[in-house]
Amino acid sequence: MRCTSCLAALTLLLNSVLALPPDDFVLNHEAQAALLLPKSNHCETASASNRVAIIGAGAAGSSAAFWIAKAQERYGIDVEVDVYDKNGYIGGRSTVVQPYGMPELDPIELGGTVFVEANKNLWRATDEFGFERVPYDNASDTVGIWDGREFALTIGGPSWYSDILTKAKVIFKYGIQAPLRTQKILKRDLIDPILSLYAPTARRFRSIEALALHLNWTALAGKTMAEHMDLNGINPAWTREMVEGVTRFNYAQNVDRIHAVEGLVSLAAARPSSVKGGNHQIFERFLAESKATLFLDTAVESVSRASPLEPWLVKTKGSDDERAYRAVILAAPFHQANIAISSPELPIATVPEQPYVHLHVTLLTTSSPHASSAYFNLPLETPAPEIILTTSNATRNNLATGQEPAFNMLSYLTQLRYRNGTVWLNANGQPEWVVKIFSNSAISDDVLRELFDGKLGWVVRKEWDPYPVLPPTTEFPPVELADGLYYVNAFEPLISTLETETLASRNVVDLLLHDHFRTGLCMTHTLDAPPDSFVYGWDC
Ligand SMILES: Cc1cc2nc3c(=O)[nH]c(=O)nc-3n(C[C@H](O)[C@H](O)[C@H](O)COP(=O)(O)OP(=O)(O)OC[C@H]3O[C@@H](n4cnc5c(N)ncnc54)[C@H](O)[C@@H]3O)c2cc1C
Ligand SMILES: *[C@@H]1O[C@H](CO)[C@@H](O)[C@H](O)[C@H]1NC(C)=O
Ligand SMILES: *[C@@H]1O[C@H](CO)[C@@H](O)[C@H](O)[C@H]1NC(C)=O
Ligand SMILES: *[C@@H]1O[C@H](CO)[C@@H](O)[C@H](O)[C@H]1NC(C)=O
Ligand SMILES: *[C@@H]1O[C@H](CO)[C@@H](O)[C@H](O)[C@H]1NC(C)=O
Repeated sequence: MRCTSCLAALTLLLNSVLALPPDDFVLNHEAQAALLLPKSNHCETASASNRVAIIGAGAAGSSAAFWIAKAQERYGIDVEVDVYDKNGYIGGRSTVVQPYGMPELDPIELGGTVFVEANKNLWRATDEFGFERVPYDNASDTVGIWDGREFALTIGGPSWYSDILTKAKVIFKYGIQAPLRTQKILKRDLIDPILSLYAPTARRFRSIEALALHLNWTALAGKTMAEHMDLNGINPAWTREMVEGVTRFNYAQNVDRIHAVEGLVSLAAARPSSVKGGNHQIFERFLAESKATLFLDTAVESVSRASPLEPWLVKTKGSDDERAYRAVILAAPFHQANIAISSPELPIATVPEQPYVHLHVTLLTTSSPHASSAYFNLPLETPAPEIILTTSNATRNNLATGQEPAFNMLSYLTQLRYRNGTVWLNANGQPEWVVKIFSNSAISDDVLRELFDGKLGWVVRKEWDPYPVLPPTTEFPPVELADGLYYVNAFEPLISTLETETLASRNVVDLLLHDHFRTGLCMTHTLDAPPDSFVYGWDC
């Protein structure tokens, strides 16, 4: 083994003298351990001093590798990155399936699907990598809010998701103030604060509480969406029908349960998009650009450290070797990752139990252009809406006669097409529509036949733990579990989306580079008013 990494250690020391990055938002920041060099002079150990392990190759882990590579490119730091994932693919909760298992057909998103223009990292990534963005909500004509017995509302016209606040029927039913005030608080309470995270003035944060405080979100995350909307004088029926339809679609949670930050995230729908061919391509590209070493089908079993002066040791399943690292990034939900963390002389911060939603995703194709009118108690000549959102309003208001909908969302997505855009035809020469259903329990074959008048093509079912259960809270998991051990998914109980996982990883990488490599992601900032296109981390 050659000794290039001893040079790396020297570079680290030099970096620490030459540069001090800007301050971070600190709440309970304990003094950082002094820059540690390995005790022994063996090069084997020294090489650990520039290695970073990332556990998880989803949105969070792949972007973490990408951010490290950005800093490497800018400041010439010598870091070697290994990425581990127990899955055999990149993307985690963002992945696609091939209808009928046919590779020549357009794949369909099975997990995280929609991102919006305000999601500046993903938007920028698709631009830089030359991916085509497909509008998410253009295919459909009508959206209905189903309460288990009837449609509380049905509205027509395309772009149901992005234009939900401006539909004429919405205004007719709930009054002009309901959507207008919603738009106002959406901008004031969510979009403006979140955009500040991409500005040149953005800073790293050591706890989610510190970030929430900075973004004025402490109170917002501490109350339910229904409370926040009611306090702002917004028509309660609008909140419990339309808005609930959207929070159930996005997070499988009702407005009187989900906290207001995530409730508002559900409503932020300007230019909802997906990457043609699958969002996971962004994460594959992040890793390819990073030049990190990727270990797929490799579950991490333990992360341990004999003493604060020793490197972290990562052990994977089925291997007796332990590989040494200066720092480790956990980019997966802590309690699902099943990793034994031990560090006798260095206490590990406690990660509170974090329940996740358990969601059933049913993807299918059908030659029926609409779901069954009979199922939805509609006259036979009235086609069911293409997008069916749901509300618990009826059960809430009348426990005796109310009926909980059998699913959270049912949506006709698109006609099944070849990758080249040609509509695919089944053996009977008919086109088929792709339909996605989200539900809290499995939808049986019988119910599917009833819903689609017996016209079923391809069906696939997948159970996910897609996002946390998100009740109001003012406490969040720790971002730093110990010196040199960082936790990206601490962000999820505040917001759980593809984009925010890339923001959370950006922060963790910034902390890691500051604490262990005496640099940062962005050491210099543009002081002039930046163009609108400035994105922190990409343009600093
Ligand atoms: C059905 C569904 C719909 C969704 N819709 C949207 C949406 O429309 N828009 C949106 O923005 N978000 C959506 N989400 C949420 C979004 O997908 C997630 O927030 C995001 O993908 C999480 O990324 P992550 O990298 O943090 O976690 P993950 O994607 O879960 O990645 C963690 C990775 O870590 C790996 N791992 C875990 N433990 C270990 C171990 N011990 N060793 C090695 N590897 C390990 C896992 O295999 C996994 O690949 C949806 C999710 C689902 C499932
Ligand atoms: C919606 O789809 C139609 C047909 O594919 C297309 O002509 C139109 O431009 C799309 N609209 C938007 C807003 O993307
Ligand atoms: C937080 O609220 C204060 C006072 O209302 C405001 O001045 C500030 O701009 C807000 N911060 C953000 C990030 O929106
Ligand atoms: C939903 O709840 C609101 C507020 O409680 C109520 O005004 C409205 O009538 C309810 N709608 C339905 C369809 O039950
Ligand atoms: C698209 O691809 C399919 C299957 O590969 C092929 O049959 C069809 O002719 C193609 N259409 C066009 C317009 O290229």
